[in-house]
Amino acid sequence: MTSHKNLKINPALNDLPVYQPGRPIEDVARELGLPADGIIKLASNENPFGPSPLAQAAMQQALAGVNLYPDGNAFYLKQKLAAKLGVVPANLVLGNGSNEIIEFAGHALLGGGGATATLDVVVSQYCFAVYPIVTKLFGANLVTVPAKNYGHDLPAMLKAITPRTRIVFVANPNNPTGTLAPREDVIRFVSDVRDDVLLVMDEAYIDFLEDPLLLMPLVRQGTKPNLILMRTFSKIYGLAGLRIGYGIGNPDFVAALEKIRQPFNINLLAQTAALAALDDAEHVRRTRENNFAGLKFFEQAFRGLKLEFIPSSANFILVHVGDGQRVFEALQKEGVIVRPMGGYQLPEWIRISIGTPEQNERCLAALKAAIK
Ligand SMILES: Cc1ncc(COP(=O)(O)O)c(C=O)c1O
Repeated sequence: MTSHKNLKINPALNDLPVYQPGRPIEDVARELGLPADGIIKLASNENPFGPSPLAQAAMQQALAGVNLYPDGNAFYLKQKLAAKLGVVPANLVLGNGSNEIIEFAGHALLGGGGATATLDVVVSQYCFAVYPIVTKLFGANLVTVPAKNYGHDLPAMLKAITPRTRIVFVANPNNPTGTLAPREDVIRFVSDVRDDVLLVMDEAYIDFLEDPLLLMPLVRQGTKPNLILMRTFSKIYGLAGLRIGYGIGNPDFVAALEKIRQPFNINLLAQTAALAALDDAEHVRRTRENNFAGLKFFEQAFRGLKLEFIPSSANFILVHVGDGQRVFEALQKEGVIVRPMGGYQLPEWIRISIGTPEQNERCLAALKAAIK
């Protein structure tokens, strides 16, 4: 048996956790011997209505062109996004999913071969799992601030910032808890974070809010050059499988991130689909309305079942079921894939992504049977 043990690999990799995604339908079908079309996945906060029909049609058209490299600078997509957001294309950096933007932030602020062990990244307890992974990958020190009612305690996070701090990550709404930070706290926090600390405001779920606090004007006016907003096409736009997200920030900082970005990180179909999806206001509206109704459905059901849950501002809901792993497995046997939360230190909870009304009913029926 040969081994790679003689290689001088990055020591951070020795105990770096591997991200545990929601289980793919095909995996579960294979394991349980069930037909794939009988299984529903409510585990990764995807759009239950699928991609926008406009995006699907545009991709069909584009298929014959995949022998050519995509536009590495995604000219048309950046133009359209910039116009929609009220910024300029130089404010935008595209990522292979917004996950890639998180990695760009690591390269930009934590890389460089220096003594990164002395650099801090501040996050909240129950933060999105990729922030700690990227922090540890770059050998930086993770400072985890205790959550308040399962959400970010922004005043405490502000206090946790020291001269060693390089990045602060805040997802609002947060995944996996679905919590939304109070507006006044966010405004104060954004204004008070020191200007030598990169503030990443992760807005992956902002499209599900009725009346979101928009930080975009701060980028537009150039008043917060240390602020970057992250958005994604994976959630409300239903394009998770294509891997496309973006950062919105100061043009000089964005120019630095552009040096890190692989030349063709956004493939042709992703660019094409995202461009078309931006025009599909109806698909977005329908998804948002279904989400409000689905959240209400689950909240009401959980109240009836006397199950504790965390009121959610996103497209998923966290519910307290006792033994999360057992309930996850019981639901899976019924062809319903949800997300166990042990990896987030919430082993008594499961996270359910909002599905179509039929999927929600089926999930609830399986849950009721599992906790009986
Ligand atoms: C808070 C948050 N940020 C970022 C992402 C990454 O999304 P993507 O890489 O698909 O754009 C997710 C995905 O679940 C998320 O929940």
